[in-house]
Amino acid sequence: MTSPFFGRSIQVVRDLSVDEQAYLYDRTRALKEALQSRDRESIARFVINADGVGAYLFFMEDSTRTKESFRNAVKFHGLKLNDFGTSGSSFNKSESITDTFRMLVSYSDHSLFVVRTKLEGACRWLEESIGAYAERLGLQRPSFINAGDGRHEHPTQEFLDEFTFLEQAGWDRSSIHVALVGDLYHGRTAHSKVDGLSIFNEVRVDLVAPDELEMPPHYVSAMEAKGYDVRRYQSIAEYLAGRDVAPTWYFTRLQIERMGDRLLDRAAALRDAVTFRRDFLSALPDGARFYHPLPRHRVTPTIPTFLDDLPVNGWAEQSINGYYTRIIEIAMLAGHLGADFVGTPRVVPDYPDDFVREVSAQSSRKPDYKIGIKPVDRGIVIDHIGRGGEPADIWNQIDKIRRILGLNLVSSHGVYSSRSGHYKGIVSLPTVDSLTDSEMKTLGAAAPGCTLNRVEDGRVVRKYRMEMPPRIYNLPGIACSNEECISHPSHHEPVDPEFLRSGADRYLCKYCERPHEFGELW
Ligand code: CP
Repeated sequence: MTSPFFGRSIQVVRDLSVDEQAYLYDRTRALKEALQSRDRESIARFVINADGVGAYLFFMEDSTRTKESFRNAVKFHGLKLNDFGTSGSSFNKSESITDTFRMLVSYSDHSLFVVRTKLEGACRWLEESIGAYAERLGLQRPSFINAGDGRHEHPTQEFLDEFTFLEQAGWDRSSIHVALVGDLYHGRTAHSKVDGLSIFNEVRVDLVAPDELEMPPHYVSAMEAKGYDVRRYQSIAEYLAGRDVAPTWYFTRLQIERMGDRLLDRAAALRDAVTFRRDFLSALPDGARFYHPLPRHRVTPTIPTFLDDLPVNGWAEQSINGYYTRIIEIAMLAGHLGADFVGTPRVVPDYPDDFVREVSAQSSRKPDYKIGIKPVDRGIVIDHIGRGGEPADIWNQIDKIRRILGLNLVSSHGVYSSRSGHYKGIVSLPTVDSLTDSEMKTLGAAAPGCTLNRVEDGRVVRKYRMEMPPRIYNLPGIACSNEECISHPSHHEPVDPEFLRSGADRYLCKYCERPHEFGELW
């Protein structure tokens, strides 16, 4: 039986279902026990040892523990190991990441790429584009493992964090109460908690960060939508002065390198708010444990070194767990483990393109559409544009429709007050008989809620209603607003922007997952 994990990639925590994450933790636990008891026979069962599998460490940002734990995990498996030297590569001749990976994919039958970059969403893009490229060449699709992409996610850190929390909980998944402390705005390991904590059935999260470092609202909303009980505090002092302090604390360092000048000026005060002090010790609940993805700052650590030898030190064991979890992740994606997986697999969401719906054309009624002062006798009339919005917004939508569809022809348009008293926009196109499917979808994406009417002999003969599309892609002029996103035009990677609907009027960039209001896409 083949493994359901073979050839897959891990860009975000959700790329493994909760059951699949539980499988990862269960296998890691067995491996750790085997290694600690030096049980050679059991250890050997985890080792891949296959000639055709090659691993590439591709780190465009600095790293110690992620890179070295993956390096040692690859060696554990006896695989071919490549360490890509970004500083001496053709990046310095302005080569794109996409072209670089097209080159690297051909060196092994099955390549596993471990990628750290500040370009958010890079692994999602590489998984798709290099996967398709490899198939065209008759090669196996490679696996990509996100080893941290900008402020976005760090899924393999999350897996080792959750494994460590489960160890602390004695493998009881019924509940967790955790405090997230530090730079929750920039800290990708904190962002990955939104999905990673779902391994527990009941989740209580206390967010301890001053306003400037607070967790972005869309992550907080996502936690609340999952049913987590979320509380907020400005500082450790405020948190400890209250009641019901969590036994599990997860610190993240202040990401000075990602802060703008405004925050840099305030860095010392912000750090103070989330730095643990000796006099706080007595307020901790019994058995409290601290965790930290590390590294910590050698001059101003938020977990000061006087705590290193106290029982609260959970971060040392946590960091060692990175080696064990990464051995198992590699074994799963290489197809060596997983044939015995039972449970709910990851569901890849489907985004149907059926948001253009034909509705009844009330052909008995004469429409009052006009081209200038003349009634429309035949052609296309786009109605209900921006219905219910403000006139300025509706004019913007009309401009957008004209620009995207290239409507430089005989026509008229305007903003009107409808019978119900709402404003709406109308565009009349007397020389256009029909729009292509692609143009209809473009129209739906640019002006959801509008209707398209085909008029013949002064009557509406076909009528279509455009709904909010489940995904928006392949349209001119759309772009992700996140300058760190792999799809941002400033990076000159050949990525077509794509947005996936996530709420009434909200879309997430497919790559970096930055939320956008519908109107921000153009
Ligand atoms: N936790 C973590 O990602 O550490 P490194 O930056 O040292 O890899």
